[in-house]
This record gives sequence, C-alpha cells and structure tokens, in this order.
Amino acid sequence: MGILRTTLSKLNVMKRRITAAGLALAIVLQTNAQSPAVFTIQSDQVVADVQPTMWGIFFEDINLGADGGLYAELVKNRSFEFSAPLMGWKEQKADGATGSLLVQNRGEKNAANPRFLRAANKTGKGKYGFSNEGFRGMGIKQGETYDFSVIARQVDNQAVTLQIELRNPKGDVIGKGSVTPSGKDWQKAKTSFTANATEPKAQLYIWLEGAGAVDLDMISLFPRNTWKNRPGGLRADLVQLLADMKPGFLRFPGGCIVEGRDLANRYQWKKTIGNVEDCELIINRWNNEFAHRPTPDYFQSFGLGFFEYFQTAEDIGAEPLPILNCGMACQFNTSEVVPADQIDPYVQDALDLIEFANGGPETAWGKLRADLGHPAPFNLKIMGVGNEQWGEQYVERQQIFSKAIKDKYPNIKIVSSVGPFPEGEMFDYLSKEMKALNADIVDEHYYRNPEWFLQNATRYDKYDRKGPRIFAGEYAAQSVYTVSPENKNNWRCAIAEAAFMTGLERNADLIHMASYAPLFAHSEGWQWTPNLIWFDNLRSYGTPNYYVQKLFANNKGTKVLPVLYQNAVAAGQDGLYASSVFDQATNEIIVKVVNTTSAAKSTVMVLNGSKKPENTAKVTVLRSDNPEAMNSLDQPMLISPTEQTIQVTDKKINISLSPGSLSVLRVKVK
Ligand code: AHR
Repeated sequence: MGILRTTLSKLNVMKRRITAAGLALAIVLQTNAQSPAVFTIQSDQVVADVQPTMWGIFFEDINLGADGGLYAELVKNRSFEFSAPLMGWKEQKADGATGSLLVQNRGEKNAANPRFLRAANKTGKGKYGFSNEGFRGMGIKQGETYDFSVIARQVDNQAVTLQIELRNPKGDVIGKGSVTPSGKDWQKAKTSFTANATEPKAQLYIWLEGAGAVDLDMISLFPRNTWKNRPGGLRADLVQLLADMKPGFLRFPGGCIVEGRDLANRYQWKKTIGNVEDCELIINRWNNEFAHRPTPDYFQSFGLGFFEYFQTAEDIGAEPLPILNCGMACQFNTSEVVPADQIDPYVQDALDLIEFANGGPETAWGKLRADLGHPAPFNLKIMGVGNEQWGEQYVERQQIFSKAIKDKYPNIKIVSSVGPFPEGEMFDYLSKEMKALNADIVDEHYYRNPEWFLQNATRYDKYDRKGPRIFAGEYAAQSVYTVSPENKNNWRCAIAEAAFMTGLERNADLIHMASYAPLFAHSEGWQWTPNLIWFDNLRSYGTPNYYVQKLFANNKGTKVLPVLYQNAVAAGQDGLYASSVFDQATNEIIVKVVNTTSAAKSTVMVLNGSKKPENTAKVTVLRSDNPEAMNSLDQPMLISPTEQTIQVTDKKINISLSPGSLSVLRVKVK
C-alpha cells in the first residue's frame, strides 16, 4: 500500500480535476416539453441469460467488518493475544483493594493461544478487578440476554468468584451475573443475564470476590440474539441486511486481506476453523495501513472463519465464492512471493478447501466439515486464485493452481486476477494472458469517480466475447478519489453506479458476477470509505449505494431483453440509461431506468412483441433531488425505495422519471 499511496497521491490532483469536470457533465439539465422520450423493449428477443450469480456480495474484514462488526463478540482482545496483551483491558480497584494482573505465556504448550491472564485479589478486601472497553464500547439492549463465558482455573485450588457487570459510561450497572471457576484444571465457566437498559458504550467489569488468584482466558460476552440465534454467532441486523439483498454469491474473505501485507500475514483458511480458542489470532492488515486512519486495536480472532462464511452464504441463498492466496503477498506492500517450486502447500490448501466444502464424510476434510455440524456439502462451484495480483509471477502461479484444481475438480470454475485497475499496462497484460490461458472468469476492479461509471455504461457493449467471462468483483464510485478519507456514500455516486450497472445487465452474457466493495464499516472504526453498509454498536443502515445493489439483485430476472432509445442502447443519451430483463419465474418484464439529470423526464415504455401485459405495472423508485444527500445512522432511510402502481395501456407505460432517480418497473405478461 506504500507504493499505492505514492502512486495515488500523484494521481489524486488529476482525479480531483476529472471528478469536478465529471460532476458538471453528470447532472445535465435536459428537458423536452414536446413529446415523451420513447424506450422500446423487445420482449420477444432474448439476447442472453442472466446468471443466478449476477449480483452478489463482497465481504472483507476491513473497517471492523468481522471483529467489532459482523462477529457479535463484545469483548476485545479476549485471549490477550494482541501485540500489547492488555490492550482494551484496564485494572479496576476501589475501597482499598489490592491485587495484580499478570499476563503469562505458555509458549509451545498452547502455540495457537499462548497467553492467559493471572488475576489476583490479594486480601479479598474492597473491590478488585478489571474491565474491557469493547470495540468502541459495547452495544447493549434493554431486555436482551447476554452470555458470558471464560476458560478458567483456580490457582492453588482457591475459590475466587467472578462478579460480572455491564456498566454504562456513568458507572451505572445495567446487567450483572456471577460465576465461580471450579478446580485447578482449565474449564469453561458460563453465566447469562438480562440487561436493564440500552447503551451503545457499555463496558464489561469483572470483579474478583474472595482472596486468591484465578487464571483466565477467552473472556467472552455475546448477545443471545444473534443471526439464527447461533451461540457465538453473527450480528443479526447486519446479516439481515445481506439477506434482504437476495445476493447471488458471497465472496470472502476479501480483498487484500487474502494476500496479507507479507506472506506470514496472509489469510490461511485452515487456521480459521474448529474451536475458536484454538485459532491463532493475527494482526489485521488494515490495522496500520493508512496513516489517516490508524486502528491499532484491529486483529483477526477468526470467530468468523471459513466454516461460518460458507454457512452464511448458505443461509442467505448465495453461492460461496472463497478467494485464496496464490503464494503472493500484497503487491502494494511487500510483493513477497513464495518461489514457484515451493508453492505446493498453497495449492494443497486450495484442493483441501474444495474437499472441505464438497467432500463426503469418507474424506478427511469432508469429515471435518461434518464434525463441525454440516454433514451436507456446501456445493462449492467457484473459487478465486489470488486477489489483486499482477505481473508474470501471477501468470506463473495462476497456471500452477489452475492445472492442479482442474485435474482433480474439472467442474470448479476459477476466478483469476487482471490486476487492481480497469485499464492500463497491468490490466492489458493480464487480460491478454488470461485469455490465452483460457481462464474461466477474470476479476475486474473499478474504484473510479462517478463520471467514469457514467462513461463506462457502454464498457462491455463491444468487449471481446471469445475471452473469459467477467466478474466485476470490486467497484464503488469515489466522490473524491480512491482511498480519500473524504469519500462519501452520496446519491451522486450511487446513481452513477446504477447507470453503470444497466451496462453490466445488458451484457449479462459476459458479466456473470458483480459486487460493490467494500461491504461494511464501523462508523468509529473504519479505514476505507465509501462502503455499502455502515453501523455502530447498536444500529446499522444501508447507503443509497446499498439500495441500488438491492434493487438490481431483487429484480435480477433470468433473460436479458434489448431496450432501445433513439434506435440505440440506452446508455447516456439525454442523461438516461436503461436495461431490461424477463423473469421466467414470475412472467414479468422488468425495466431498470436511470435518469441522471436534474429534470423530470416524460417517457413512454413501449413493450414490443407478442407478450400481452397486464393493466398495471409496479414501479419502485429510488431518488433524491440532492446529489450530495446521504443516509446516516440517524436518517437511515432518507434515500430508500418507494413503490407505486401505474397504468399499462396498449402495451405502453407512460411514466415521468423523477430527477435523479433509478426506477424499476415490473409488469406481468401472458
Ligand atoms: O475494497 C478495499 C480494497 O480495495 C480491497 O481489499 C482490495 O482488493 C482493493 O484494493
């Protein structure tokens, strides 16, 4: 990322100029008082299939996306394995109490989780203990149950009781319980309690009652109410937002996190499954990536690991799309590579992952999946080899992986990299190489200004159909410039993405998958902006960009239909963009139309062909008069879809398109 920052800073001035020019172009006042603009939908002419995977989700553990976000654990640094072992913890004492907190290291005896805390109350007098600050506090809800657990043992067979309290910032106790670890052997001890108040910034206090010492590890607090009420599970509100999108796929675990800043820091799926106390915690590569947003307390505990990713994908009806490290660390950071003749363990990880996902109970990895509670296969069909790699080293490694995977699992489709940018030398080189290698799918990334998205609505209209299929794997319009902390999830960006997505849909024969990136951001713990969904400890909301994604995914259809405007594809003439699909499951023609101008547009949608429409159509509109408008934690639905019904007469729908709007029309036909 060091190199990225330098390159980007050189580009930034230029980008700012382009963005400003783009703004002026994007919002063009176009009026036509005489006659409505005519869109013709050729309802008998299917031009392509829409893949079930078309609109999906990109998940990466960035912006406290996993720990402190989707993973509902409330205790930060629960196993004392952060670089500073007591980060997030604080000694507490009152009324003349004396005691000590000592971090001990078992080393090889427990290599994955070596440290634990020895806490001692010397005299038993007064109050002695310690507190945990959570992830920017702990979000606690009145009336909800919280499950506390700890792996503990008494030192010298003493009988120290742990008094557990949740406190608000004023010090009021808003929930409490107690637990007495039993005996001198490590055992899990648990207690549950109900909170009597709602508080976004609570802290957990643990008081030692009685003179003596206890050894403590994996100190944990979870809300009982998680997604599907799974113990130790995921934040229900966040998964619900994902499920509501009805996504075609879930890509995980990133992003650059797959690569790591160096190879030692890469994501290794085998280290993320099984008992969470046996998963080795590692630093999150976004921890100190950006000087403008340092996050020294950002680590990966892997409570959300590959098993949970597969399970979540299944829960929300999405194809799982894991991306694996291909023996290359992030080329923006270290460019460290494993020599090609030592790459076998990396390749083996990929083969074993397929067995883990799809193998029967007679296979080693399939058995492990069954033992973890999922005897049925996860039905993995697609996987990614490397994230944003480039250069000859990638071509060499892509071939090694492809050969090994296809030899053993010929039906698995492989997603390959074409680099971090949607044009330029790296992109041209890899696009050519991947075509020559007959790659299945290539992953294109576009972090560009809104004007780029408007101009690129036609990007794929004349693209090479003889090469690989395309995964628009990471995209988001940047209101300022890529990696600027000032980027906003505003309507100007969202509507540009909608216009661009009509181009993806029109070219669904080529574009098999697309996902906005990144997905999640904690409002107090983010590194990167813009993001699709923002949250704090209690609340979450979808950005206007989220509603664009949701509208496309919820109205995916199965077949692409041509839409003509002024005898051409509708891709920016008069500031209008459109695409259309037919949904065989519901017998509906679906039209998505984007009005990027600041004027209402009187239009008529003509449904050409033999299909006879019903008398009414449903229209869902997402709009704002203000290109700078955004949703927020306080106004989560400021820009959100509204529905209405309109008349269909003689196969025509007259509709006035609101200024700055995305409209989705659905009309049933016979
Ligand atoms: O989405 C944020 C980052 O952008 C991803 O980790 C990486 O793939 C891209 O550079």
